[in-house]
Amino acid sequence: METRKVYLDHSATTPVAEEVLNAMMPFFTVGMGNPNSLHQWGRDARRAIDEARESVASLIGANAHEIIFTGSGSASDNLAVKGITWARKNAGKHIITSAVEHHAIMDTFKWLGKNGYEVTYLPVDEYCMVHPESLKEAIRDDTLLVSIMYANNEVGTVNPIEELGAICRERGVLFHTDAVQVAGHMPIDVTKLPVDMLTMSAHKMYGPKGIGALYIRKGIKLSPLVHGGGQEYGIRSGTENTPGIVGFGEAARLAVKLHDSGEENRISRLRDKLLDGIIERIPDSFITGHRIQRLPFHGSVCVRLIEGEGILLRMDYAGIGVSSGSACTSGSLEPSHVLLAMGLDHATAHGSVRLTLGKDTVDADIDYVLEKFPQIVDTLRKMSPYKGG
Ligand SMILES: Cc1ncc(COP(=O)(O)O)c(C=O)c1O
Repeated sequence: METRKVYLDHSATTPVAEEVLNAMMPFFTVGMGNPNSLHQWGRDARRAIDEARESVASLIGANAHEIIFTGSGSASDNLAVKGITWARKNAGKHIITSAVEHHAIMDTFKWLGKNGYEVTYLPVDEYCMVHPESLKEAIRDDTLLVSIMYANNEVGTVNPIEELGAICRERGVLFHTDAVQVAGHMPIDVTKLPVDMLTMSAHKMYGPKGIGALYIRKGIKLSPLVHGGGQEYGIRSGTENTPGIVGFGEAARLAVKLHDSGEENRISRLRDKLLDGIIERIPDSFITGHRIQRLPFHGSVCVRLIEGEGILLRMDYAGIGVSSGSACTSGSLEPSHVLLAMGLDHATAHGSVRLTLGKDTVDADIDYVLEKFPQIVDTLRKMSPYKGG
């Protein structure tokens, strides 16, 4: 009998939706013109990019000219942080982020920390939430930029971005948020949200890999990281990735359709069934991250005294794709910086498993995981010093 395949790693990446692929395909062949060319091939590609920019902008309530396409979520994060610190290098040397950021932000801040900037890393509580009070206390007269993620990729906790942004605005400090895990999954409206820059990535929302976007509020000047032909309003040179951009535009349209069809309710019900089922069936397991202020598709748990990697490998054998901590940190022996910042000890943090659902996940998938996961834990525990209790 063929094993069932259940992919529960949508925080790592999502499949390209059929309508997205169909929209992209012509731009590899007949629509291959360079969008900077003046002839009809070029003009057709330019039109397609303009339409995609409108679509990505409208997903978050922005104007099209406030969207810059980049090569990835990581590239957008780098552009936001390095672009501002470079453009305003005489305006202050203090920058603030949180202790649980994705490495695209975390390592950029560490690098700036070695290059003349003073960095404050805000702590999080046991649910991975950044508290507005700690931001208020950290902002100084020479604070140049604050970057705090909208939602955490490892444990799914959604930060109080509106409050955090309001504090920055009140103090006249620029505010960037990495919304890679949120865009396309929860409504975002930058006409109401006090953010100055916001990062998105297509491959987390049924678009292609290798295409990101940065929202930059009108009037904010960034220094480019890539100089050249002056594409993307001079902020990100390089011939545009037309198929990728078109795919991003279509993925943004799909996200609106999914939202209108009630996908957030559907997927969070399945996620809750999964999390409740795991906690009920597996002794000494607990949910990581916030139970309510959480991405609708995101589940994460810790199973005490077992290696998450061991679970991952056995789940894979049973046809189930999950990750242990973040896809980028798995493979390293150090437990995730996120779980440690939440106050978990090393041994417990090693037992973390992330299960993130997608638009094609159905009840039968969850039932299958709830059958296999406890069996796998039971087998691993029989081989470990675990004695229960
Ligand atoms: C919160 C967050 N930021 C940034 C990224 C990087 O995005 P990309 O893979 O498009 O570079 C990821 C990817 O996992 C992420 O989860």
